[in-house]
Order: sequence, then structure tokens, then C-alpha cells
Amino acid sequence: MSAIEPQPGIMEIELYQGGQSTLDGRTDVVKLSSNENPFGPSPKAVEAFARASRQLHRYPPTDHASLRNAIGEVHGLDPERIICGVGSDEIIHFLCQAYAGPGCEVLHTEHGFAMYRISALAAGAVPVEAKETERVTDVGNLLDACTERTRLVFIANPNNPTATMIGGNEMARLAEGLPDGALLVLDGAYAEYVEGYDGGVGLIDSRDNVFMTRTFSKLYGLGGLRIGWGYGPKEVIDTLNRIRGPFNLSQAQLGAAEAAVRDRDYVRHCLAENKRMRAWMAEALAGLGVPSDTSCANFILARFHDAEEAEACDAHLKEAGILVRRVTGYKLPHCLRITVGDEASCRRTVHAIAGFKGARE
Ligand SMILES: Cc1ncc(COP(=O)(O)O)c(C=O)c1O
Repeated sequence: MSAIEPQPGIMEIELYQGGQSTLDGRTDVVKLSSNENPFGPSPKAVEAFARASRQLHRYPPTDHASLRNAIGEVHGLDPERIICGVGSDEIIHFLCQAYAGPGCEVLHTEHGFAMYRISALAAGAVPVEAKETERVTDVGNLLDACTERTRLVFIANPNNPTATMIGGNEMARLAEGLPDGALLVLDGAYAEYVEGYDGGVGLIDSRDNVFMTRTFSKLYGLGGLRIGWGYGPKEVIDTLNRIRGPFNLSQAQLGAAEAAVRDRDYVRHCLAENKRMRAWMAEALAGLGVPSDTSCANFILARFHDAEEAEACDAHLKEAGILVRRVTGYKLPHCLRITVGDEASCRRTVHAIAGFKGARE
């Protein structure tokens, strides 16, 4: 056996399973497996990306000031308390690296996003899971699971893959009840999809133990480019910047993200379409005997009778050229996560599921 051994925890990491993106031999695939924006990014972001191609020999800025200022302006936040990363995944990674290590615990919810566990293990910490209640974050269970070793508590609000969320009072109760030395991280990857919700900024600004992560991968349609950001107490930002690579984001990423966040008309259009097709698809599926919790995001967690039915429906959808996401790894084997696509994709998906259900009757 080799004397070269990885650090404790690393070999416990199971490789992240991304949503499938191709089907052999098919060119008409509808991809509803990764919660991407079906309309892609703002044309202004695409232009900014093209402009960056003229400067490929230049290193990008290290401080991301222009993007941080744009995010600050749009969201009414202090740019000095913003950090940008290679997707919010990188911010999650920084948080674990900076605040958790051997002997520490990182708490997340039962059906929480896979990267919390992966980043905790990568840092040598112990991931701890708190049960949800009917697929909703349960603050009581999270508080019960805290120990003096808890350093980070991740909740996605709205959560992936459940699409459910908790309200401001519950978030505040969680922040208030955490042990000293534990940081609450509100993962706002889908926060934009909730009307009137700022991702928890009020709570962050009134306390010193709350942080928020955000992304350009969902509403802004830039998943392929990998840009995310975080907002929180200045000390936390200063800490994370110490481990951030100075050139972690390219000019193409920075320019495209800035153009995207400033294009509010495009954002409004995408939000309106998502809201319209989400309601239509949820209702149509419920009418077929496939219920879902009210979605607060850009996807629906469709519930089937059991794992066998979910698996068979997934296979049927693939036959029809439609890719959705099985969520067995999230302990939801009887569910399929379906991204809200454009109207044609949603109609094609509902039609295929109707065919599947009809054939089983
Ligand atoms: C809840 C949640 N958080 C974070 C992410 C990571 O997003 P990204 O790294 O693309 O910003 C995702 C992506 O699926 C997500 O669903």
C-alpha cells in the first residue's frame, strides 16, 4: 500500500452527481435536470463575455471591485462586505476551509444541498444532518443537533431539491439559538425566485453570526461560467479573502456577471416566465396524480407513489428525450426534480408524464 495518504475525510466524499445533459443518439433533448434558466443569460452578458475575449492575455483584477459595486448597487449592499467566487460552491468551500476542520461539525438539513457535506469532509470536519419535517427545514431539529463543536450551519432557503423554504421568524430563531462560535449560512441560490425576499439581509445586518451565499447560475443563466458571491460580516469576508485565489475569477466571468446583474428588464422577464410555467406545470402534474409542495424556486419536486414509479417515469421521460433529475442521493427516491423550462419544454414534459400515468392505469 502506498505511504501517500489523503487527509482524513477526503475518501469519504462521494463524487457529486450532476444532472444528466445528453442522451445517446438524440438531438432534440429537453434538459430539465440542473435548474438552469431555459432562456440562457441576458444578451448583455453574452456581449460582455465576447468583449473579454480581446483581453485574454491580461490577468483579471484581483479585487472584483466593479462586480462587487454592481451587486452592491442592485441589492443595496455594502460592496466591502461582498466576496465573489467560482460559483457559490467556491464560497461554500471557503467557509468550510476557514471555519471547520478536524474535530468540528458542519450541520445541514436532511435533504440539503450535496456540497455542504462534500466541503465539510474536504476540510476534515464532520458533516451532521438534521431531519426535516415533511421536506421543510426544521429549526427545532437543527438547534437540537447543535453541539459545542458546531462551526457552520448551512440552510438553503429555498432549498434544493425540495423547493420549500422557511420564513424570517424561523431563520431569526435559528440564528439566535446557535451556540457561540457557529456561523449560520443562508444559501440563497434560489432567493431571487421569491418575491420580496432579500435572502436574509436584514438578519445578517443585525447580527454577527449570519452569512449569505448567492449565485449567477440560476436566474442569471450563467451556470456554465461559474460565478457566485457571498455577503456577511466584514470579519468573515476578510477571513475568506485570505484563502481566495487572487485570480479566482476571469475577466469573462466578472464582465458577464456585472452585465447580467444590471439587466433588470431581462431578470423581470425570466422571473415572470418561471412563475407562470411553474404554476401551470405543478397544477397539470397534480391533476395527473403527481403532487408537489408549493415551489419557491425554478423547479418542482414531483412526488410519485414510490421509488419504483419514480424510476419508471424517469426512464419513460428519457425515452421521450426529456432529462429530469432523480434525487435518490438526497433521500427522496420516490421523487423527480423537474426544472421549470420554457413553455414548450413544460408542455412536452407534462404530456410525457400523462402518457406514462395513462399506461399504468
Ligand atoms: C442550493 C444550492 N446552493 C448552491 C448551488 C451551487 O451553485 P453554483 O456553484 O453554481 O453557484 C446550487 C446549485 O445547484 C444549489 O442548488
